[in-house]
Amino acid sequence: MALPAPRHVCQECGAVHRKWAGKCDACGAWNAIVEEAARAKAPGGLKPGRKTRGPSLAFEGLQGASADVARLQTGIAEFDRVTGGGLVPGSAILVGGDPGIGKSTVLLQVAGALAKRGIATAYISGEEAIDQIRMRARRLRILDAPIMLAAATDVGEIAGALDVHEPPGAVVVDSIQTLHVDSLESAPGTVSQVRGSAQELIRLAKARGFCLLLVGHVTKEGLIAGPKVLEHMVDTVLYFEGERGHQFRILRAVKNRFGPSDEIGVFEMTDGGLMEVPNPSALFLSDKQDDGSLVSGAAVFAGIEGTRPLLVEIQALVGPSAFSTPRRAVVGWDSARLAMVLAVLEARCGLSLAGRDVYLNVAGGLRVAEPAADLAVAAALISSVLDQPVTEHTVVFGEIGLGGEVRAVGQQETRLKEAAKLGFIRALAPKQRKDGMRVAGIEAREIKRLADLVALFENAAGRKRGS
Ligand code: TYD
Ligand code: MG
Repeated sequence: MALPAPRHVCQECGAVHRKWAGKCDACGAWNAIVEEAARAKAPGGLKPGRKTRGPSLAFEGLQGASADVARLQTGIAEFDRVTGGGLVPGSAILVGGDPGIGKSTVLLQVAGALAKRGIATAYISGEEAIDQIRMRARRLRILDAPIMLAAATDVGEIAGALDVHEPPGAVVVDSIQTLHVDSLESAPGTVSQVRGSAQELIRLAKARGFCLLLVGHVTKEGLIAGPKVLEHMVDTVLYFEGERGHQFRILRAVKNRFGPSDEIGVFEMTDGGLMEVPNPSALFLSDKQDDGSLVSGAAVFAGIEGTRPLLVEIQALVGPSAFSTPRRAVVGWDSARLAMVLAVLEARCGLSLAGRDVYLNVAGGLRVAEPAADLAVAAALISSVLDQPVTEHTVVFGEIGLGGEVRAVGQQETRLKEAAKLGFIRALAPKQRKDGMRVAGIEAREIKRLADLVALFENAAGRKRGS
């Protein structure tokens, strides 16, 4: 039998090339192509030579008798919320995030909570020794939880322990990048190893009905390392976000076959592990001045994260630049989106921003992805340029179009209600979709065009100067 030809696989995107090249044609990454031995046997440990004849595929209707499976709840409400109400037996969950953000911590806490509830739970670490895990468990005060610990990296060995009649109800594997399948020759962490290991474990989880929780490392671009296919293979993908300097951590569901995606769980990192923050809506507001007014350059955005409203302070600083190319630095928001808002302010509202440095920051280490934040970002920028604070107790939201128009966004009523609950009395918002929709306690000012918002600030600044 001829030896299988070596394959050259891009470690960024998983594309297979006939020969080595410096740059991957598929994704444009440099120095990412690595020679890997071709698979010696079918992926996922499927037995070769399966029968092609025999009983044919039996189709079934949608209303078959599938018992409603009971989800495994951890009792950590924020975690149960992101998973859509608990872990589904037989499903696979991938948890990604920057190094040191708290993936191992949260999963050990989850394992401890499940074990304490009488669900047999295994925690398999390829990164840490048993002693290190014990030390962490002591810190987390879950030493009394009957977790089954193991340090292993060989998928065959792990599968052997789990492919039994009564496997644990939940299995944590930390991390998928440390595992290796013997039949593949490439090093652990390469695309084919990650894919092969995940396939084998996911297949086993489905066959044996346990819930698989995988930790995945992220690349410097913030994506889960290894092929994107890993995200396709699992049922749920959670990202753990947060700024290392801040104590808040956000667990965000970016994909969930068993619940809403874009749901978030909010935690606080303490010296006793991650504590849940059940009412995070006011968490991302900075300490305001006593009368509720903000300094110029800040605006409060009434956002929605998952199913929950969340008020977030957006801060901007616009100043003269010392460089020939002005700096544009963004933390917590999309820089392309900032460039767009700046362009619209410049082209449609006559605000001169060329030659100025722009810094934008979302307070508290949150990442905002909603286009509804456009108007709040614009308000913070205009406020900084004109040195005119946003009126006190005011929230802002709305999407900005390239023509300078302000578009309605989803769940406007929910946003306003949350703002009212937290003591805000005014809103700068797009036209309400439903006529006559009023939220008690909030005076919503309709902003049709971005230029109207600029005029609002200019008038206020003019009045201040005039008085
Ligand atoms: P860890 O879970 O090891 O991160 P990851 O697995 O994502 O790489 O978290 C490590 C960080 O969390 C570390 O910097 C210390 C901090 N930490 C606490 O602040 N309190 C704690 O109780 C624990 C266990 C960790
Ligand atoms: Mg870890």
